[in-house]
Parts: sequence; structure tokens; C-alpha cells
Amino acid sequence: MGKIRVLPDQVANQIAAGEVVDRPASVVKELLENSLDAGSTRIRVEIEGGGRKLIRVADDGAGMNRDDALLAFERHATSKLHTADDLLSIATLGFRGEALPSIASVARVTLETSTGEEASGTRIEIAGGRMHRVEDAALPRGTTIAVSDLFFNTPARRKFLRAESTELAHVTALVTHYALAHPEKHFELAAASHTIVSAPPVARTAERIYQIFGKETLGQLLPVAAETPLERAGLPEPPPWKRDPDEPKRQPGSLRLSGFYSKPELQKLNRNSIYIFVNKRLIRDRLLLHAITEAYRNVIPPTSFPVVLLFLEMPPEEVDVNVHPAKTEVRFRQQSLVHDFVRDSLRTALVKARPAAGFLAALDSQPSASPSLMPPAASPLVNNSDPAGQASLPADSTLFHLTPALPSPIPGTLPFTDKPLEHGQQWHAGDFSLQDWGDAARALFQPPASGPSHEPCSPSLNGTATYASDAAAAAALVETEQASANLNRLGSLKPLGQLRESFILATGDDGLWIIDQHVAHERVLFEKILEDRQVERIQRQRLLMPLLVELKPEQMVVFARIAQELQNSGFEVEPFGPQTLAVKAAPVGLEGAELERTLAEVIDQSTADSDEPLRNEELTKLRSRIAASIACHSAIKINTPLDPKRIEWLLLELAKTSHPTSCPHGRPIALLYSWKEIQRAFHRI
Ligand SMILES: Nc1ncnc2c1ncn2[C@@H]1O[C@H](COP(=O)(O)OP(=O)(O)OP(=O)(O)O)[C@@H](O)[C@H]1O
Ligand SMILES: [Mg+2]
Repeated sequence: MGKIRVLPDQVANQIAAGEVVDRPASVVKELLENSLDAGSTRIRVEIEGGGRKLIRVADDGAGMNRDDALLAFERHATSKLHTADDLLSIATLGFRGEALPSIASVARVTLETSTGEEASGTRIEIAGGRMHRVEDAALPRGTTIAVSDLFFNTPARRKFLRAESTELAHVTALVTHYALAHPEKHFELAAASHTIVSAPPVARTAERIYQIFGKETLGQLLPVAAETPLERAGLPEPPPWKRDPDEPKRQPGSLRLSGFYSKPELQKLNRNSIYIFVNKRLIRDRLLLHAITEAYRNVIPPTSFPVVLLFLEMPPEEVDVNVHPAKTEVRFRQQSLVHDFVRDSLRTALVKARPAAGFLAALDSQPSASPSLMPPAASPLVNNSDPAGQASLPADSTLFHLTPALPSPIPGTLPFTDKPLEHGQQWHAGDFSLQDWGDAARALFQPPASGPSHEPCSPSLNGTATYASDAAAAAALVETEQASANLNRLGSLKPLGQLRESFILATGDDGLWIIDQHVAHERVLFEKILEDRQVERIQRQRLLMPLLVELKPEQMVVFARIAQELQNSGFEVEPFGPQTLAVKAAPVGLEGAELERTLAEVIDQSTADSDEPLRNEELTKLRSRIAASIACHSAIKINTPLDPKRIEWLLLELAKTSHPTSCPHGRPIALLYSWKEIQRAFHRI
């Protein structure tokens, strides 16, 4: 007898569950996606015991009739896909027909559903993959799925679950982000004792951000929107003999982007605050992450990351979603087009907005590891008004576990790292570094920000309407404030003088400006050098005597690799013996010791781990590193007196740059102590 056997369905389902369901948040993800696919307008999620005890998702969507409800728990049973061709243009979030049978194989599930059209609805109870009861029930239109005792029959899985509060934080992150992608729908998330998210429908994403995160977060973000036609359709045309003459020719459609990005002053130590949605699906994608970091290059430090909420819309055939069992990764058919579009749209938005850094905000703007996009009341401890919430804390809740941080954008996956995730590899919220401690503690002990987001929503239509319009008014207010606080008027400021011969003080209608003279000049020079380099018009000066620079052997190797670009950037350097360089000419403004430092810096920042010629991207980066280094070493220093003419000149030149917000290394250039802040500090408002 042969050794190979076909696995029973129950085993196959548990294997599938291993890929799709690894913690409560991934159950919530599947159920939420089903509710959204069913066209629901109101979705309520209830969680008990961090989701281990109970997850209930109730929607008002299309519902199922009795036959469909039974079929839904069969493996590979789906209403969303009929043929293999459909796979090429998936417009729904689900399509694998796997989620419900997988969940039902590792938990006890009760499904209640009704289409609202039949005489009665259906209730089904199923546990560990076995059907226990099927009955008629009087139910309103929609579906409610309750999942209890998750992993009751798979103890190994259960062991991997973290503290209740950690699991709840994952669930909160998930619901929050789906709520952001669908501002027009009503989302609620409730834990046993209190409401965590309550978001009635609003018209725009800005209002939703206000509802969920409050005014402060919204104030730190700027809107972006762009569109580009797709040059060609994602899929090749079928050959003429297979074409249906009646079928209209496929239109390439367009690529649309909308969302929010952080001002340069807000910086994060990791990529956990970057959220990317493609056709409203929350995904992680290294290509787009790269595009985002590129957009912020030389605006924030290379070790920092921005906060970005990005919604990309494209025809479904442009993106393959069938590449990952949890559907969290996608593949674009026109990769570089999507990449460049995202990078350029963000970059253009940054140049246009030129947001001013607030003096007070900058004081507190150390890059942090904590994700900023978490509802302020995500942790029970933060909710002061709820003693019951505190009492119900599990014994093992430590501050780490309670970090109201969003551990990873998508449950069960690593936060964005440079390495791709090994299949099945997991990252857990408990794995915080000590650096999180400060943020975690601060967030925990801060009183919850006031605002409508913490009040349980009123079910009455009236209440909802007021709530939504509050959000609209607040969002509009934040937008006006944002629009006014930009750097466009830098050139028309009235300089008052210098502070300790290092910082320029100037006034304008919007308040008092403090400008760091060194980094301001650095930015001006940096952009000029790059521009001149672009048109190959670098100004160089011949040295009276060649300058000899000693290098270590490994630095000589690096030098050889970047020599050509150095030459193109204005250096005339030749080897002078085995470990010495002779500099005969240098970019204008760079002299003596500074010239030597620039060369050493550029060489030290480069590597020579390949003999291949520099690739385009490496070359661009090298070029901007050289420009940044020259700019830094030839810019006006601090502790340098400047006469009024020179100050005026510097402000005018700074106003002309594309990124007057920050120096090429990411430090702020100009801080605004706004008129409003000043009035507030003097208790006038
Ligand atoms: N909340 C719901 N409302 C209406 N129909 C639902 C709901 N949840 C599930 N269904 C139906 O049950 C079917 C099976 O759901 P399931 O989540 O297992 O698979 P899927 O969504 O089709 O694919 P995937 O495994 O990728 O999620 C769905 O295709 C849908 O027809
Ligand atoms: Mg599904």
C-alpha cells in the first residue's frame, strides 16, 4: 500500500488556519473584510479577553441565505470568484474561500445571518470544524459572526498569544486602519467594558483622522492627492483571434493617490507609522516603502521615517493580490511606474506645502519608535473615566504590554524591516526595545485628549449628524491653520538681528521666526550645487598649491570607485603615491581644512563592496551626499556675525529653495513661534 494519503478536510483547514489565522487580530481582519465585501455600512466589533475569549463582528451587509451560510464553511467556497480569469482582476478583499472554514477549525463559531428577503434568517453553530446546530432564526438583514475560545483545540497556537492588552492593541490597530480606509462607513470597536473606536460616517478622510486620533495628530499631517493615466493596461491584450469583437477595448485607466504625510518635524525611528492601502486593502510593500523614503530624502535624516497614510487606487487588473495567504502583499504589474508616481507625488506635495515647524512642536520632536497612529484611548489604563477597565487588566500587564503602540501594521507580520519576512515568521508586540519605554509611559500617563472621539457615539441619527459635522468643522480648522503656517513668506520677513551670532530672528504676520543661519545656508548651497551639477556647470577654483591628503588603504579603494563623480562635482584630485591624494581644484567656497574634511567625509560615507559601475540610484545618492557635504563645509558657521544685508540675502535665497524646512541632513531650519502660541503663552487667549 502506498504511503500518500489525501488529508481530511479538518486537517487541511487547520493547515490553512496556520497561515491565515495566527492571532485574534487576524480573525478580526478576515471577518471585517467579509463584512466590507458584503457592502455593509455599519460594522461593530466586540472583543473580550483580548479576543481569545470572544470576537464578535456584526454587520448590516447583504447577509446569506441558508444554503450559502452552510456553504460558507466549506473549503474553497466563495461567492467572489468563478473562474481562473477572475483571479486577474479581483475587486473584493476576499477571494480564497478559506477564511471561515479556517477560523471554524480552530475555534467555536456562531454565525447568524439574514438577507432580509427570506422568511427567516439562519443560525449555525460550528466548533473545531464540526457543525453542531443549524436553525432558523428571526434576524434583521446582515451577518453576525461570534468566534469564541480561539485555538481551544490547538494548544501550541494558544501559547503564542500575548497578553490580552497586546492582542487588543493589534485588533485596535486593524479596526482603526480599516476605518480610515472607509470614512463613509460606521465603525465601532468595543472591549468588554468600554468603547475604543467609535466612528460614525463622515465625508472625508481628514474628518475620520480627527474622529479617531484627535486634532493633534491631524495637525501634524498634510494632505496629498495626485492622479496619472496608466500608459498601458496591466495585462497584455489577447491575440486577435481570441478577442471578442463586441467587447470594448480595455481602457488603461489611471493611478490615483490620496492620503496624508507628516511634516518633516515629525520623525519616527521605524517604519511602523507608514500605512499603505491599495484599492482599500491594507498591505505592506517594500517597493512603496522605498518610494516613500526616497520622497523624504534630504528632508528628514536618513535614519528617520515619516508617518504616512497612503491610499492608492488602480484598476484591479493592475495589481496581483494572489501572492500571500493572508493577502497582505501584492505585486504591481507596472512596478516602476507605481514606485515613481508615489515618490514624485509625495515629493511634489512636500515642496508645495513647505510646512513651517512649530517652535513648541519642535521642542518635543525627538524621533520616536512609537507609532503615532493609535487612538489615544486604546489602552484601558488610559481611559481614566473607566475604573472597570482598570480592574479588568490581566495580571501580566506590564507597561510594555500596555504600550498603546501599534506593534505591527498587519497582525502576524513583522513591522517593515529591510529583510522580507520568512513565511510564517511572526513578530510580537511584547518585543519592544527600551527606547519605547519613554513614549509608552508618557502615553499611558497622559490624560486622554478631550474630543468627541472618546465619547460613545449616540445611536440616534441626530447625534450622529452633529458628531460628523463636528469632525468636519475641526478638520477644516486644522487645514486652515496648516495652510497659513508655511514657509512661502520667508522672503518677506523683517529681520531683527542675530541671537548670539548664530540664529537669525525675524518677524512676520504669523509670528516670530528663529532661523539657524548655518543650516539655512547649507540648504541654499545644497540645492544650488545639485542644480549646477545637473547642468554640469559646477564652479570650481584652482588651488595655489595642491593640497595633499593622506588616506588609509581601504579609503583609497573607495576613492577609486567614486573618483569620477568627485571630478564631476568640482574636485580635481589625483593619486599622488600609494596612499596620498593631491587635490588641485575644488568647488568654490571650500577651503583648507574644510576641503580636507569634506573629502574624508564623502569617502567614509561611501563603500566599495562591488566592482560594478555605480547604478543609477547609487549615483544619485552619492551625488547628493557629495553636495550635502560640500554645502555643510562651506556654509556660514554659527558664531559668525552677519550684517543686515547678508541676513536679508540669506532669507531671500532660502525662500527660493524647494525644501526650506530642513537641512540636507534633516535638521529643522526655521522655527515659527506662532502668533497664536505667543498669545496663549501670555494668557491672552
Ligand atoms: N459578513 C458576511 N456577509 C455576507 N456574506 C458573507 C459574510 N462573510 C462571509 N460571507 C460569504 O461567505 C463566503 C466565504 O467567506 P470566506 O471569508 O471564507 O471566503 P472569501 O471571503 O470568499 O475568501 P477569503 O478566504 O479570501 O476571505 C464569502 O465568499 C461570502 O459569500
Ligand atoms: Mg473572506
